[in-house]
Amino acid sequence: MTAADTRIAPAAVQAAAERIASHVRHTPLLRRDLLPGLLVKAEHLQHSGSFKLRGAANALLALGADAVVAGSSGNHGIAVATLGRGLGVRVTVVMAAGAAETKEAAVRALGGRVVRVPGGVAARDRYAKELAARTGAALVPSSDHDLVVAGQGTVGLEMLRDAPDLDAIFVPVGGGGLLAGVCLAAAHLGSAVRIIGVEPDGARRYARSLSAGRPVEVPPSDSVADGLRGQRPGEVILPIVRHRVDELIGVGDPAVLRAMTLLHRAGIPAEPSGAAALAGALRLNLPGRSAVVVSGGNSAAALAAAGAAHTGTGRRPAAPHRPACPHPHHSEEGRAMNPIDTAELTGLITGYYRETLGDDTLDATSDFFEAGGDSLAAFQIVHRLQELLDAEIAVALVFTYPSPAELAQVVVDDLSLASASA
Ligand SMILES: Cc1ncc(COP(=O)(O)O)c(C=O)c1O
Repeated sequence: MTAADTRIAPAAVQAAAERIASHVRHTPLLRRDLLPGLLVKAEHLQHSGSFKLRGAANALLALGADAVVAGSSGNHGIAVATLGRGLGVRVTVVMAAGAAETKEAAVRALGGRVVRVPGGVAARDRYAKELAARTGAALVPSSDHDLVVAGQGTVGLEMLRDAPDLDAIFVPVGGGGLLAGVCLAAAHLGSAVRIIGVEPDGARRYARSLSAGRPVEVPPSDSVADGLRGQRPGEVILPIVRHRVDELIGVGDPAVLRAMTLLHRAGIPAEPSGAAALAGALRLNLPGRSAVVVSGGNSAAALAAAGAAHTGTGRRPAAPHRPACPHPHHSEEGRAMNPIDTAELTGLITGYYRETLGDDTLDATSDFFEAGGDSLAAFQIVHRLQELLDAEIAVALVFTYPSPAELAQVVVDDLSLASASA
């Protein structure tokens, strides 16, 4: 890829790496045999909890503005606010109606102002642009900006320098900044690595735009991967993706949740968007040496726990109630479940909170996520549910209901209903 192919010269990624070096972590490339020889780029360990800090740092440092506006699903806003606080920059983050409340709270806790707008990501980005123009603040988009793309590319630079023999890299795709950045990094290093973008099934704007030969806007999505709900391909990004990406694949919510569970078991507390690349790698199961970018770890639970740490209370605020997942009796497989002992299940769930944690009021989601690979009891619950239900629903249930009492209630009610009607 040459500079003539795209607006951004591949060398901009190296310049970004030098500019942001003192603000970012060089994150490890972990070996986790979720697939033979698979490597995991651990960006959940990045400052601010996601790779978004890289592009945000490159833009903030290069622009030198004293006020910025950023449209974000959350992680970009958290990154900009984290940096803004240190650099003395006033930060306003524009978030779409359905964006995570815990991410909004994190931006506010870092001193950022948050404006919520109705609609999806496209409406959000239009509003952010208008607001920046109206107030004279610098616009720092979450992906479609030369400096942001170059900053995100430092993820690829580190990966390809740490493992030059990689055959394939799987990258989650939201706005596409990370994907385009990894492409530029590969071009800069002259690497022929296969680059595969992973989009949520409901938001395949890059795949559709490439096949249509023009930018296609898709409707707002409610993918469980809240960072991957982009609607339009970026103007800066699309030519890079067209030129260099080898393949774009789609993954559904169940596959993302399954990948997230596997990562958690392996001690990597990814958020859903951060697990999408693994879902893609599991789907293709390529021969050779692959790496996935675990792009973030800002789950509701992780943010809530960080919030509690900030306040010094040691207690976690309850995670906001997430949209209901499919109930067991809505599933064909759920109907064909084994006979169950509801008392045993209720005992397992409530006993876990009382006996293992010494508290029956803690937030179920927080505990599950925060425990990472260590909490055998949490996984026992999932396993027991998986014997009764189909796997995705079991996992979704544990992630959805914010208290053990609610979780037990819904499982018992729904299983009883399903057994009675079977
Ligand atoms: C954790 C996480 N992964 C991936 C993405 C997608 O990144 P991009 O917008 O650069 O495609 C996001 C976007 O918010 C994210 O928060």
